[in-house]
Amino acid sequence: MLLVWVTLSCAKWPSVSDGAIGVFDSGFGGLTVARAMIDLLPQEHLVYFGDTARYPYGPRSLDEVRGFAEQITDWMLRAHDVKAVVIACNTASAAALDALQARVDVPVIGVIEPGVVSAIEATESGRVGVIGTVTTIGSGAYQQAFAAADPAIELTCAACPGFVEFVERGETDSDQALILAERLLAPVIDAKVDALLLGCTHYPFLARTISRVMGRSVTLVSSADETAFAVRRAALDGRLAARTSTGAVRRRWVSSGDVATFERLGRQLLGDELANVEAHRW
Ligand code: DGL
Repeated sequence: MLLVWVTLSCAKWPSVSDGAIGVFDSGFGGLTVARAMIDLLPQEHLVYFGDTARYPYGPRSLDEVRGFAEQITDWMLRAHDVKAVVIACNTASAAALDALQARVDVPVIGVIEPGVVSAIEATESGRVGVIGTVTTIGSGAYQQAFAAADPAIELTCAACPGFVEFVERGETDSDQALILAERLLAPVIDAKVDALLLGCTHYPFLARTISRVMGRSVTLVSSADETAFAVRRAALDGRLAARTSTGAVRRRWVSSGDVATFERLGRQLLGDELANVEAHRW
């Protein structure tokens, strides 16, 4: 009996604390989460994968995105022996969190629940907005997560097709982005929300534009920091073996698309830690 318990409880325990944490997104969006993880868990090795050859995920079906997420996770385990996986993408979290948690033996952390916790903390009126890709909003993942966390929250959701493309082009502050934001954010403005959850990891890069449209009284909530806190909590409570060595930290950056573009724009968005981007072809 004891043996069975030990076997089961160890199934989700990584064997090597010196392993890297795998983080992935369709492209640059997950860099918001990677940045927060570098700041909060600076001693941890990291492997970041941006699937820029197949971005955007937002208009794709949940089944297709789930297939991508499974493929990336299997590759991260095989090629990089990661000790945990962070799905730094709302669309992929909505599509694949449950499937990945059931599929692999390392902890898998998504961005939806951490974002919901932050948004509930941020609102005073109880009126919260969530913006995300068409697939994320259509999946109902946020609607379910808020209903489970606090049924009293009045939630207004809006899909923002086109936002991700602005970020991937490095156009985070343009007039065109502002015009699009004015149109797409109308439902959450009309709903008089006082907290707006950026339910796509690309959107924090558009925070200035979004904030100009929403006004200063609305708090923008990003799931990036809260997700990094969730990873740290997992390390503290032993679900994820924290790295104890103080030796050099390894950070690897991999892209399925154009490596030079990923390095140039990625550095601009994340900082100097992003260097030596490697190519991965499916
Ligand atoms: N950053 C992603 C998300 O959080 C994906 C966006 C996309 O590729 O459309 O949903």
